[in-house]
Amino acid sequence: MIAMNFSPKNEVWKDVDLSDAKEVLHHAFDLYHPRISIASSFGLEDVSLIDMAASIRPDFRVFALDTGRLNEETYECAEKIMERYGISIEWYFPKTESVQELERTKGMFSFRESVENRRECCGIRKVEPLNRALNNLDAWITGQRREQSLTRSGLNVVEVDKSHGGIAKINPLSDWTLDDVWSYVRRNELPYNRLHDAGYPSIGCAPCTRAIKPGEDQRAGRWWWEHPEHKECGLHINESETGKDVENI
Ligand code: ADX
Ligand code: SF4
Repeated sequence: MIAMNFSPKNEVWKDVDLSDAKEVLHHAFDLYHPRISIASSFGLEDVSLIDMAASIRPDFRVFALDTGRLNEETYECAEKIMERYGISIEWYFPKTESVQELERTKGMFSFRESVENRRECCGIRKVEPLNRALNNLDAWITGQRREQSLTRSGLNVVEVDKSHGGIAKINPLSDWTLDDVWSYVRRNELPYNRLHDAGYPSIGCAPCTRAIKPGEDQRAGRWWWEHPEHKECGLHINESETGKDVENI
């Protein structure tokens, strides 16, 4: 449900320096709090956004999708974040019946067999819970960056998310490089996912993510058996994929 005063127009953002992530977050909270939340996979980008949010207002919200297949390191990072900022995480879990049916009929690794099966699993474990998470929000904040992949090269800081009812989608780190993110994390001594020290720039589900080799693309470890153009799980449908789902504000 979108609030009556939601108006995705340029003028709402015209005085904001979109290259300043903290200013973007601040403005987004002014516009949408409490119907705005940070989507966190507990990667470097998300802990950076959480840290910035904590310095703006203590009652910021964070949601996370527990697919049931996350790494232990990710849960450990989530715990550290809860302790450091004194926040609770709004976890969303997939529908029990759907996961049961999937595992009973296709086993535990059906996603390796075809792109179609992989999308089915992501649909059950990520996309459907995301829809529920976004249902009562007017805006969500993500840690996506342009540099992460070709499918994200057209990413904007502020977008209208048409695949989720036209709510706002804010990507404050859109222009940041991986080095920028590491600098922020180190400068502020943030807790971070131990997988990053083991060669994982991108954090996803345990069976679908591996460490990358030197020189490999930042998302090369995600669904490594698939072609690069398929490497989105449905959380982020973008213009380059559909030509119509996400529109710039
Ligand atoms: S994904 O689509 O391939 O999974 P990626 O891992 O690059 O996305 O993460 C991009 C952003 O999507 C994260 O910074 C975070 O905002 C959001 N995101 C990814 N996975 C989750 C998750 N499990 N729970 C909540 N948000 C997530
Ligand atoms: Fe399933 Fe892998 Fe998608 Fe996780 S990333 S939801 S395990 S297919």
